[in-house]
Amino acid sequence: MVFRLSCCLSISLFSLIIFLSPFAYGQLDYGFYAMSCPNLFLIVQFGVSAALKNDTRMAASLLRLHFHDCFVNGCDGSVLLDDTKDFEGEKNAFPNRNSVRGFEVIDKIKADVESACPSTVSCVDILTIAAREAVFQSGGPFWYVPVGRRDGLTASKKAANEQLPSPFEPLENITAKFASKGLDMNDVVVLSGAHTIGYAQCFTFKRRLFDFKGSGNPDPTLDSSLLSNLKTTCPNVDKSNNMLAPLDTTTSYMFDNAYYKNLVSNSGLLESDQALMGDPRTAAMVNSYSMYPFLFSQDFGASMVKLGSVGVLTGQAGEIRKKCGSQPPPPPPIEVIEQAYTAHSGHGSIGPVIAVLAVITILGAIAVMIGRLCSGRRIMGHGQYDFEGWVEAKCGSCINGRVDPPPPHPPQSSSSGAVGSGDAVAAVVSAEALREVKDEGVTRQHNPSESTGS
Ligand code: HEM
Repeated sequence: MVFRLSCCLSISLFSLIIFLSPFAYGQLDYGFYAMSCPNLFLIVQFGVSAALKNDTRMAASLLRLHFHDCFVNGCDGSVLLDDTKDFEGEKNAFPNRNSVRGFEVIDKIKADVESACPSTVSCVDILTIAAREAVFQSGGPFWYVPVGRRDGLTASKKAANEQLPSPFEPLENITAKFASKGLDMNDVVVLSGAHTIGYAQCFTFKRRLFDFKGSGNPDPTLDSSLLSNLKTTCPNVDKSNNMLAPLDTTTSYMFDNAYYKNLVSNSGLLESDQALMGDPRTAAMVNSYSMYPFLFSQDFGASMVKLGSVGVLTGQAGEIRKKCGSQPPPPPPIEVIEQAYTAHSGHGSIGPVIAVLAVITILGAIAVMIGRLCSGRRIMGHGQYDFEGWVEAKCGSCINGRVDPPPPHPPQSSSSGAVGSGDAVAAVVSAEALREVKDEGVTRQHNPSESTGS
């Protein structure tokens, strides 16, 4: 009985693991590195803390770096890749060039993580955790970061130029770009709250100060005292283009809800920020975040988890980069296999899926057969082949760990001419014999209904 139960349990468990493993393997998980790199979160925490001691603005820069990574073909660490002579990555795309910062901080943390857990943690996971740390260490909310992302094998300057939002775009365009990443209008409003820390270069908002939309005048919605301060920081000459102004003039280094209070009082820095007050749906959200900081904190964490899940690579996809800036050599063998699929079957990438499904089906069929054998039922349904009876008759003594007395000789009447093979005769005979042994009081559990097949 115990033998049968454990046999069937193992098979069911095995089948379940085989069936479920592709799904469980492909997902982000809070405990992904719990065994393989238990100190990961501490290492990132210390790395970010050291960087902020050196440069408080780095919190804003790490947060933005994470956004620019995820927004271009998903969170895959592509923004971290260096250009080479044959490859142009995202670092020098227009929204990033001389603008995104923090690469050396991620490289330093990656080196520390590699010393503790070599070839285990992806650059994109390090960047994602660093962004959370940056917010938290600036006084903002804490949220749990699910991990298990893998680094992409490439990057695209063109995609970065096309997909990243511009401060000169209307709100509808920005919302459409977010929607294409699975982020809704609420996420636009909540994530824009990241502009509660950090700086912008004058050229990103200068036309609001001197020549708003070709009018020759400043943006009429801009608060007048902010306007005159900004004119001092960014005079109307080209050489002021790269000067910096805080995105949140009141608390530039504190991650709070002041950004929304600024928008309510017409003191948003970027046109795209202030535009949130121009649509009744987004303005309502801005108003409530300006009044309820706790609500903003809570929603910001939730939207950051969403942002951090955009287009992630998991399982066997991508790689774990050793150095975050280095692109791996191209993998030619995979290309050959893909061509073969396309040429012969016309199914492209569904070939492997079909193969996996076939293996699962075969394993399932084997599991069902063994399961039925274990439960003592006949395989073919003709009452002839009682496998378990046969096993118990032949090997009962080995299974129970003792030597049974030899079975008594079968009565003549039970030997039927319909049985065609010697083994089958032995099985029927032994089953009869076993019943007799049981009747004689020898301890063995046997269900007559299974062995006779009636
Ligand atoms: C909604 C569309 C967005 C637009 C149009 C936008 C645009 C900009 C621009 C123009 C800058 C200044 C860059 C420079 O002058 O070099 C900036 C800075 C920044 N952005 Fe955004 N952004 C957007 C959304 C986001 C989101 C979703 C996040 C993060 C979740 C974010 C985080 C930041 C941070 C923290 C900075 C300051 C960076 C620093 O000081 O180094 N932005 N953004």
